[in-house]
Amino acid sequence: MEILTLGDPRLRRVADPIQVEDLPKLQPLIDQLIDQLQAAAGVGIAAPQVGQNLQLLILASHPNRRYPDAPLMEPTPLINPQIVSRSADRVLGWEGCLSVPHQRGQVWRDRSVTVAYLDRQGQPQQQVFTDFIARIFQHEYDHLLGKVFLDRIDDPDQVISEADYMQQQSAVEHPAEH
Ligand code: NI
Repeated sequence: MEILTLGDPRLRRVADPIQVEDLPKLQPLIDQLIDQLQAAAGVGIAAPQVGQNLQLLILASHPNRRYPDAPLMEPTPLINPQIVSRSADRVLGWEGCLSVPHQRGQVWRDRSVTVAYLDRQGQPQQQVFTDFIARIFQHEYDHLLGKVFLDRIDDPDQVISEADYMQQQSAVEHPAEH
């Protein structure tokens, strides 16, 4: 599956809700999104990123090269997600996006969100996501609203190249000896 990148107008649409009776025929799409994520070593993906204008996203946090500190979770599909409540506090953190290649930006997100959604069997679920997983959720949920993380950044200095980001991170993790 081709991942759409910034500039494609299909990334700017508000996604349609999924009818429960359509879930059986959407199972292959869910599996393809999970495969796509794993191939790209991503931690989240939303159906609009592959041109499917549906309220479907996958959360799949795991430690990897792009996000070495990510917690490990099973790939979790969320259908028609709604934010039920948000924490009072917000945190600033780095984000990247498969649809915004080679850039990283610092984005404010709610520290935790309570989310109601349908699982891939169509069963209603409610879950609290915190910290990094809450960040991934809010990032992917934005894709369902036709938004990307760059839209959440006011200060242009908070967007840098992925190469500079990697350099900064390794400078933090491996301070020069002296
Ligand atoms: Ni994204």
